[in-house]
Amino acid sequence: MDIIKMEGISKLYKSGQIQVEALKNISFRIQEKEFVSIMGPSGSGKSTLLNLIGCLDHSTSGTYELAGNQVNKLSDSKMSEVRNIFIGFVFQSFHLLPRMNAMKNVEIPLIYRGMNSKKRKELAENALEQVGLKDRMTHLPAQLSGGQQQRVAIARAIVGNPSIILADEPTGALDSKAGEKIMELFIELNEKKSMTIVQVTHEEQIAEYGSRIIRLVDGQIVSDDVVEVKNV
Ligand SMILES: Nc1ncnc2c1ncn2[C@@H]1O[C@H](COP(=O)(O)OP(=O)(O)OP(=O)(O)O)[C@@H](O)[C@H]1O
Ligand SMILES: [Mg+2]
Repeated sequence: MDIIKMEGISKLYKSGQIQVEALKNISFRIQEKEFVSIMGPSGSGKSTLLNLIGCLDHSTSGTYELAGNQVNKLSDSKMSEVRNIFIGFVFQSFHLLPRMNAMKNVEIPLIYRGMNSKKRKELAENALEQVGLKDRMTHLPAQLSGGQQQRVAIARAIVGNPSIILADEPTGALDSKAGEKIMELFIELNEKKSMTIVQVTHEEQIAEYGSRIIRLVDGQIVSDDVVEVKNV
């Protein structure tokens, strides 16, 4: 089943006299349980596209269907409801709250859902266990390595059991060893938890952890290919 379906999507940014057409008439579909990498030069529209997929912003034109919901017809508040149910976000710079420990950071999305504290702690502990950080629950972000901070951010992204993980340069701030560990975690979430993953990266090696690579240039899709399975 298609979980993401975009048809003729464009995004125009206007600031003062200047207009930027960040996405130009883009169409593609992503099926449930796919692991897709988006690549392309700086300014080609990758983050813009990820933000549209993640219901953080409206497109200027075109239609977008997320898990059967016509997103482009939704109000901002309905759109954030859909986002909270279906999407978990991971960012290059982790976006953790510095004064809260790992556990509290992971609990945040559940607070927005109005869940009681006991249930929140239980789910947050589970998510941190899944990313291999059960023994770091009371650490503050500054007391964790970059790779560990990103794993806390992934625990926060998956704690509400979303269908889709969207990651914008998830390994961009990490060394290659820590980056590999993040990719192994994505593979596990993809294969064992059946989560659909869409990641933006500029590293070919990282992109190839996915099963498909979509390349953007100047706001348009220039290629969309299956990744060959390498014989090791
Ligand atoms: N909020 C905004 N207002 C105006 N223009 C924007 C805005 N966000 C992005 N743009 C413009 O849209 C284009 C696409 O930007 P986008 O951030 O999607 O690129 P990107 O592919 O993610 O680049 P990078 O690899 O550098 O992160 C760029 O030309 C950028 O300047
Ligand atoms: Mg970007």
